[in-house]
Amino acid sequence: MLQIPLRKLDRLEPEPAELDRYEMASNGDLHAWQLTQLAWSLRHAYDNVPHYRAKFDAAGVHPQDLKSLEDIAKFPFTAKADLRANYPFGMFAVPEQRVARIHASSGTTGKPTVVGYTKRDLDTWADVVARSIRAAGGRSGMKVHNAYGYGLFTGGLGAHYGAERLGCTVIPVSGGMTERQVQLITDFKPDIITVTPSYMLAILDEFRKQGLDPRKSSLRIGIFGAEPWTNAMREEIEEAFDMHAVDIYGLSEVMGPGVASECVETKDGLHIWEDHFYPEVIDPDSGKVLPDGEEGELVFTSLTKEAMPIIRYRTRDLTRLLPGTARAMRRMEKVTGRTDDMIILRGVNVFPTQIEEKLLTIPALSMHYQLVLTKTGRMDEMEIHVEARPDADAPDIRTAAASRLEQAIKDTIGITSRVIVRDPDTIERSAGKAKRIVDRRPQA
Ligand code: DLL
Repeated sequence: MLQIPLRKLDRLEPEPAELDRYEMASNGDLHAWQLTQLAWSLRHAYDNVPHYRAKFDAAGVHPQDLKSLEDIAKFPFTAKADLRANYPFGMFAVPEQRVARIHASSGTTGKPTVVGYTKRDLDTWADVVARSIRAAGGRSGMKVHNAYGYGLFTGGLGAHYGAERLGCTVIPVSGGMTERQVQLITDFKPDIITVTPSYMLAILDEFRKQGLDPRKSSLRIGIFGAEPWTNAMREEIEEAFDMHAVDIYGLSEVMGPGVASECVETKDGLHIWEDHFYPEVIDPDSGKVLPDGEEGELVFTSLTKEAMPIIRYRTRDLTRLLPGTARAMRRMEKVTGRTDDMIILRGVNVFPTQIEEKLLTIPALSMHYQLVLTKTGRMDEMEIHVEARPDADAPDIRTAAASRLEQAIKDTIGITSRVIVRDPDTIERSAGKAKRIVDRRPQA
């Protein structure tokens, strides 16, 4: 990996006294806490949410059956469909008057998924986000430019309260109006930016459009999440801004941002804040729990949530669990993709992140891309639409870049694709999560 000078931060590691109780706890201490909390959470869900009671009863399990952490595997999974079926408030475990905040994810089809928080849940959430920002190198007194969307999406408000909890100054910009983002970064001189990685690239383009050198900006740390992104993208952003780029993961159903986060001193995957969220990785087809180190679908059970306990929630995100490094709690590898985003092309599984990794190896290509799926006869085809870098406008450079990418994909992933190199600024931008897959296949 490209080594950039890390001159913009003088202290990467926090002092031991700054860490939360379980960040460096022994496994024994952590597991004892997890077992107590898991028992509480199962009981809380069973006693207060009719949906869980019915599901546990149907599966013939009772909260009392949990004697060890492994016993969690006896309990049924929860999926997005369960939340939809109980729309809007059927999954809440406390009276509505005790719900202090509601968020929802828009979802592409049908009803949104609704989640609720008590005051204590909001407190926990701010704590885990503060912990995440600290892991990224953030400290009290720093200024945070928060470009995650505010509103029902958990990104904006989640990052906001976490940054305040750490003692930062928050600039609540939200997403969109890219010119203004650049102006505010230039004028207010934030240390940290919180934003989706794809929107960070749009901000980068805008810096260049305005003739500003992004390496001279005040930004020292970027905390990027809400969508999959690769180490290749990390290199691109770190190099362009001379800043640290760190991954943050989360999902509304489990809490929002701050379920897991990378440490700036290692950048080797995301430490899961296991004192609040108990992780498992399962085989997505059989549902069987996989040992640490094996790739599969990530599943979470909340350990402390009051308003909406969540039991064995199937995230659809693919990753593997790894031992702790910079913190004692386990890590999850950078998410490869979602099971929903897996493209199967003539029997080969492909994720957008695999294509993204290849883009950076070709200097004429930018990281703005979309995968367009079409069907000719009975054959699925994939076109890769990618923007040329502004300095690569000669047709022969573009043609050569397209062939190189096609070849690289053929050699490493094993699929035939068609690469279409487009002019800069012609691929749809989003101020939040990027849309990587455009499916133009006729619906069966
Ligand atoms: O995206 C919460 C969030 C906001 C996380 C800001 C980080 C930063 P949802 O809208 O419910 O919540 O979407 C959750 O986004 O299941 C993953 O598929 C994806 N996702 C979130 N973070 C990452 C990440 C927020 N760091 C869904 N890497 C999750 C890869 C991510 N995918």
